[in-house]
Amino acid sequence: MTLCGWVESKRDHGGAVFIDLRDRYGITQVVIGPPEANATLIDEAGRVAAESVILIRGKVSERLEGKANEKLATGEIEVRSEHFEILNSCETPPFTPNQADLPGEDLRLKYRFLDLRRAEMQRSMVLRSTIVKTMRDYFAEYDFIDVETPILGRSTPEGARDYLVPSRVHPDSFYALPQSPQLYKQILMVAGFDRYIQVAKCFRDEDLRADRQPEFTQLDMEMSFVDAEDVMSLIDGLVARTAKEVLGKEVKTPLPRMTYDESVRRFGSDAPDLRFDMEIVDVTSVAKKTEFRVFRGTADSGGFVRGIPVKNAATKYSRRQIDELTEYVKGDFGAKGLAWFRVEDDGSLWSPISKNFDEAHLAEIKELMAGEPGDLLMFLADSWEVTSKGLAGLRKRLAVDLGLIDPEELNCSWVTEFPMFERDEETGRWNAMHHPFTAPLESDLPSLKDNPQDCRAQAYDLVINGSEAGGGTIRIHNPSTQSDVFELLGIDAETAEDRFGFLLNALKYGAPPHGGIALGVDRWVMLFAGLDNIREVIAFPKTQKAADLMTQAPGSVDKEQLAELHLRAAKVTN
Ligand code: AMO
Ligand code: AMP
Repeated sequence: MTLCGWVESKRDHGGAVFIDLRDRYGITQVVIGPPEANATLIDEAGRVAAESVILIRGKVSERLEGKANEKLATGEIEVRSEHFEILNSCETPPFTPNQADLPGEDLRLKYRFLDLRRAEMQRSMVLRSTIVKTMRDYFAEYDFIDVETPILGRSTPEGARDYLVPSRVHPDSFYALPQSPQLYKQILMVAGFDRYIQVAKCFRDEDLRADRQPEFTQLDMEMSFVDAEDVMSLIDGLVARTAKEVLGKEVKTPLPRMTYDESVRRFGSDAPDLRFDMEIVDVTSVAKKTEFRVFRGTADSGGFVRGIPVKNAATKYSRRQIDELTEYVKGDFGAKGLAWFRVEDDGSLWSPISKNFDEAHLAEIKELMAGEPGDLLMFLADSWEVTSKGLAGLRKRLAVDLGLIDPEELNCSWVTEFPMFERDEETGRWNAMHHPFTAPLESDLPSLKDNPQDCRAQAYDLVINGSEAGGGTIRIHNPSTQSDVFELLGIDAETAEDRFGFLLNALKYGAPPHGGIALGVDRWVMLFAGLDNIREVIAFPKTQKAADLMTQAPGSVDKEQLAELHLRAAKVTN
C-alpha cells in the first residue's frame, strides 16, 4: 500500500525508525528498517523533521506482541516500509499540531495552516461540512432549489453597518455587500420559485463578540404560501434530523414554543437558556409595601423588583463573591446594586438589608420565590429592561459557576411573536426589531400606526442552548403595509423609493404571501460541537478587530488603485 502524510513524531530504535504518519483520517505507525533508515533517512540535519510530508510504500502487518496502542484506531497494525520518500521538508514550526498546550490564538491564526492540522480543528471542519450537507439534503427532499444571489448589490438593512465596495465605472457610487440575501429571496418568491435555499455568505460591520463574525454563513431559506407554524415545523424536522445524524441525539419535536413576552418575563432574555431553571420572579407587589428605600422607591416610580432563586447556593457564595456579582451587574448591565437574602435553616430570610423589612413581607417574598433553606435569593430593582438583562446575565453566570449545565444537552426551542419595533433610546425613533419587511400579526394590524409599541410580529427565533441559532419572519406582501412600516421607521416615501423601490415595485406585481428563516451555520456548528467560540468552527476567521492575521487583511492599496476608484485616502485626526 501507499501512504502519504505528515510526520507527527518519530522515534529511533537502534537502526529502525518509527514514524507516526498523520493524514486526514488519523495516525498510522510506519516502520523504516535498516538499511534505508541508516542510509537515506534520519540525518542530523533533521530531514524528516516533524511536519515534513512523506510518502511510504510497504506492507501492513500486525504490531509485535505487546506493542499495540489501544488509543489509536490503527493501533494494532503498522506499515513496514519498502520505499520511502520525503515529498517536502518542513522548517521548524512555531508550534506543532500535537503539542500539549495550545499556543496563543494570534499565533494560531497567523499560522492557520498548521493550526488546522490539529485533530480538534479537523473534527470541527468535518462536522461543519456534515451539518451543511445534512441541511442541503433535507431541503432538497422538500423540493427546495438552491439559487445564488449577488454579493455586489444594494444595502439590505439587518441592523449592522454595511461593508461598501467602490465602483470604478460609476464614480462616487458604491455596492454594499449583503448583510443577508433578504430582498433577493423575497423577489425570488415573487418570481414564482416557491421554495428557495442558499448557503449564503453575509457581511456585517458590527462589534464582534465570541459568537459573531463580520463575515459569516447562513442557511437561508424562503417559502411561499406559508404561515409561521409551517416554517417552524419544517425547521423542527431539520433540527431533529441534524441532531440525530450528527450527534446521534434524539430531539423531540415539535420543539417548545414560547412568546417573546413570556421569555423575557421568565428568563429576562429573548434567547433563554432552558438547560437549567432559576426562573425570574416579579416581587414588585411586595416591594411596594416594604420600608426598604430602594425597593419601595423603584416600585413607586413604575419600576420593577425582580429576582432569581439560586437553589442551595447560600453557603457557596461569600460576601466578597456576592460583591463581585454586584460589580458584574452594575458594570455589564447598568444595575444600581444587587440585593440578596439567604434562606436560613429555620426558614427565615437573612441579609444585611433584612432589618428594613417586616417579617410578613419577608415571608411573602420567600413564598413568591419558593425559597427553601439553603437558597440564595437575588434581586434587582430597576426598569423592566435592566432587571431583564441583568437577571438573564446573572442567571447564566451562576449556572456556569454552579455547574448546572449538562455539556451533553442540546436544548432547542422557539421564541415567537417578537415586537415589531423597538425604540432607539438616543434618537427616540422606532427601529425594526427583526427587519423592516416583517409582517405584523393579523390581530395587531390595527395598532400598527397608532400604537406601534403594542404591535407584535409574525417572527420566530430558533434558540439552541441559550444562543440565537436562527431567525425569520412572515413577510409583508402588501405594498401599502410595507409603505406604512417604512414611514413608521422614519423612512420617507422618497428614500423608500430610492432604496427599496425595486421591492415595492415587485410587491405590486403579484407577490405571493411568503416567509422564511436564516439559520446561523457557524453558530449551529459551534453549538453542536459544544464550543463557545465561533472562530473555532471557521477555517479562516477574523479577530475581534475584524483582521485576518494570516493574509494581513485589511491592507493598504496603491494610490493608483484608489484613483481608479475615484477615492483618496484621508487620514482623519481628531
Ligand atoms: P438574522 O439577522 O437574525 O436574520 O440572522 C440569522 C441568523 O444568522 C446568525 N448571525 C450571525 N452569525 C455569526 N456572526 C454574525 N455576525 C451573525 N449575525 C447573525 C444568527 C442569526 O439567528 N434575513 C434575516 C433572516 C430572515 O428573516 O429570513 C436575517 O438575516 O444565528
Ligand atoms: P444602599 O442603600 O444603596 O447602600 O444599598 C443597600 C443594598 O441594596 C446593597 O446591597 C446594594 O447593592 C443593594 N441595592 C442598591 N440599589 C439596588 C437596586 N437598584 N437593586 C437591587 N439592589 C440594590
